[in-house]
Amino acid sequence: MRLSDVAVWRFEGPFEADGPRAELSSESVAAALTKARSYTLRLIDGLPLEALHRPLGPFMSPLIWDLGHIAAYEDLWLSHRCAGSALLRPDLASVYDAFETPRATRVDVPLLAYGDALSFMQEVRDRTLATLADRGPHPVFHEMVLRHELQHTETMLQAMRLSGLDGAHGSGAEAVDGTGLELVDVPAGCFRMGASEDGFAYDNERPRHVVELTPYRIARTPVTNASWLAFTEGGGYRRREWWSDEGWSWKEKYDIGDCPSSRSGHPDAPVCHVSWFEADAFARGHGLRLPTEAEWAKAATGGGEALLHGVGSVWEWTATEFAGYPGFVAEPYREYSEVFFNRGYRVLRGWSRATHPDLASWSFRNWDLRQRRQLFAGVRLAASRSMGTSATTAMVAAWESRAVRGKARGCGESPTPPAAGGHGGGAGETAPPSRGPSVGEAVRSSEALPEVSIPSRRVDLASKLLSS
Ligand SMILES: [Fe+2]
Repeated sequence: MRLSDVAVWRFEGPFEADGPRAELSSESVAAALTKARSYTLRLIDGLPLEALHRPLGPFMSPLIWDLGHIAAYEDLWLSHRCAGSALLRPDLASVYDAFETPRATRVDVPLLAYGDALSFMQEVRDRTLATLADRGPHPVFHEMVLRHELQHTETMLQAMRLSGLDGAHGSGAEAVDGTGLELVDVPAGCFRMGASEDGFAYDNERPRHVVELTPYRIARTPVTNASWLAFTEGGGYRRREWWSDEGWSWKEKYDIGDCPSSRSGHPDAPVCHVSWFEADAFARGHGLRLPTEAEWAKAATGGGEALLHGVGSVWEWTATEFAGYPGFVAEPYREYSEVFFNRGYRVLRGWSRATHPDLASWSFRNWDLRQRRQLFAGVRLAASRSMGTSATTAMVAAWESRAVRGKARGCGESPTPPAAGGHGGGAGETAPPSRGPSVGEAVRSSEALPEVSIPSRRVDLASKLLSS
């Protein structure tokens, strides 16, 4: 597939019914960029300056880094790559490059102060808008920059959650109608997995390909806080046999004995901020397992009737290691996803309540390491047909003592649709070092990308932003 093929939006999943969208003008794309920026800045409005620079540990960036990174990324792609201009601030390229300055080192490098970061953002935006007015919108790169900024807002919300700064943005997830332990049957058969060839999608979502699955079962809803508490109180963090060797070592090393947010959240809301290791142990404790990515995707979109309820509250861990689909082609740059393939990252599907609603997507693939807990991530269970669904005696006793609800509903009901009508990109950037292109690399080599020519000018996310 060539970038020039990515020009028309038409997701073929069962939840998209809005059809082709009108082409967008430069003015419309400019308005969408402005709206995205307003959303970003509202997140940090009113925070003390100290909080923006606060170190948040090796897995998170100080909030102020995200602001500079958003601007550097925009300048790289829209002025440097698209328009051939020199970077506005080449001296900042390395500092705000996600690879050259990984998360653990971002408190050790000289970052722009708040006022200077805002000025940098505005200066970059001024150039972006001037170029946009002159050359018109680029259907891929403007979309990519819009998504990148909004994806970083979820990363920022993670940081704010960790430091107790999320305030009004940290409202709890809504309750789901189930405990997360009710499974429905999915028949054997084939389905098409991945984004279609039309419209914007990240490289790792393509090519769409046929997958055949044997029969399996999958939970109607994500696991709730109440169910997680029952797991904890039933010995979930003490039962060695429920943990993988690596998971147990991780848990012991960091003295992890529960999921704190499971105690503070609504009992019937999906549990959040659990690692893959914990999710895996929870599943083992119930004689179940995590779904593969393909099982999740088929139940969500590929079966003709959607079975999954409660999608969009938390990212959902899958058992699948992040890798390219058969026939994968990296574009527009390898560093977005290919460098993370087959390196132990696990795929997460869906989206979370911290995801900007216009990024909600049924084909987006998030990924992260198994020990990460800062994601707004939860658990959906699955089982092979041969697996049992009954919990251990200890678990049952704990459930009964907490009177965990079990309001099973029949399968086959319509799923919760994406908040803004579909494909859009999820948290991105929430996971690995980051997916930004190498800004420093761009400074050194402006020949890294092939010339791109796309005749039709459409920016899908801008359409959503302007209508939401
Ligand atoms: Fe980024």
